[in-house]
Amino acid sequence: MESSTARITIIGCGYVGLVTGACFADAGYRVRCYDVDAARLRNLAAGRLPIFEPGLAELVSRNLPQKGLSFVDEMGRALEDAQFVFLCLPTPQGENGETDLRALQDGVARIAPLLPKEALLVIKSTLPVGQGDAIEAQLRAARPDWEGEVVSNPEFLTEGTAVADFQKPARVVVGAAGAAAADAVASLYEPFVRTGSPILRVSRRSAEIAKYAANYALATRISMMNELAALSEKLGANIDDVRRIVGADSRIGPRYLFAGAGFGGSCLPKDLASLRLQAGSLKLPMASAVLEVNESQRERIARKLRALLDRPLKDARVALWGLSFKPETDDVREAPAVYLADYLLKQGARVVAFDPKVDSLDRAGLGGGLELATGAYAACEGAHALAVMTEWNLFRKPDFARVREAMSNPAVLDARNLYDPEAMRSLGFAYECVGARG
Ligand code: UGA
Repeated sequence: MESSTARITIIGCGYVGLVTGACFADAGYRVRCYDVDAARLRNLAAGRLPIFEPGLAELVSRNLPQKGLSFVDEMGRALEDAQFVFLCLPTPQGENGETDLRALQDGVARIAPLLPKEALLVIKSTLPVGQGDAIEAQLRAARPDWEGEVVSNPEFLTEGTAVADFQKPARVVVGAAGAAAADAVASLYEPFVRTGSPILRVSRRSAEIAKYAANYALATRISMMNELAALSEKLGANIDDVRRIVGADSRIGPRYLFAGAGFGGSCLPKDLASLRLQAGSLKLPMASAVLEVNESQRERIARKLRALLDRPLKDARVALWGLSFKPETDDVREAPAVYLADYLLKQGARVVAFDPKVDSLDRAGLGGGLELATGAYAACEGAHALAVMTEWNLFRKPDFARVREAMSNPAVLDARNLYDPEAMRSLGFAYECVGARG
């Protein structure tokens, strides 16, 4: 008897593809994952992951072959008898802010001749609005016999909590023209929405734009708070108090209201830049302002650090705590810490960083300049200032007596507002945070 288990193929074993594949396999579906990087597939088959994401390695190992998850290095074999093909290929930012579609287009061209006749092509990659139509047209031209459909199913995973986000989504979005295709994709998510999260069936273009809209909304809240942080400093208020008051209003809610070093990562900055380009003559002045405030926040952080130092930057040694763009990830793309390090190095400072998960500087793109310490206190050795750039748990309650002892000049820039200003000053530190007078 033929099995009734859904047969899914994942194209692209990056962060989105792996989380999607592992979570679907865990729900009992048969999942085959393909990637152009054969070494990556071999490592995955042995349970070794290319990224750090809490809970993901366990989920992958638990579902390896006998439970239905496999990594296949031949596209034809990966696609054979698939009912759902999930496109999880990277769509990074090109040089002028546009979306670089090369990996995606290459993937679609290679999939086209091998796609099973009735398979649905489900797009998880973030794509400029209307690209779903273009891909469908391309597939129909290449495969007149293909009876499937292109469905947009954007991801709303947050790095660091991606597995939980997938397994307990706030909503699932299915953008499709046909009701049968929408129902089929929606049914895959039933095990994950038992607590009542909605599965929203919309048009493909609405799904595509909603993905950008969600990141736009999050970025807007952060930039608004960073702008208000500057104002609070100027007018003698405290942004943290302002945040608690504003966030207690159920119409607003408490999340994504933390002022800090500015938003980073591979999604918020990229998606906003792409949306502006897609808008063309509409221009989206508000999206531009959100990006502009974020840029100024990075500059403000750099100025604050310079003001804390007891000497010119070219003679200074600066310790950085945290390189990743946020805790619980080793991702340094668009990380505020990397921006600061780059600025400091260009000014001739010596920069020594410690991050619990970033153990190589290759991905930070900082060349040979930045040094990595083996521990948080070691990074502070002889430093003239310490900048706390990522709110890893490890940095929340450090032994400040030890930090002061190690430093040549006790000065702390708390870019994530982790510490109590009074307590820091009584410990003998020159101290600056974000959104309150230092
Ligand atoms: C973001 C979205 O949150 C996800 O929903 C989305 O699926 C994902 O992009 C994507 O498009 O793939 P992510 O990039 O993992 O997820 O990061 P966030 O947790 O949203 O944080 C983004 C940046 O904002 C970080 O640098 C963080 O430090 C900063 N942030 C966040 C603040 O400065 N203040 C806050 O209150 C919250």
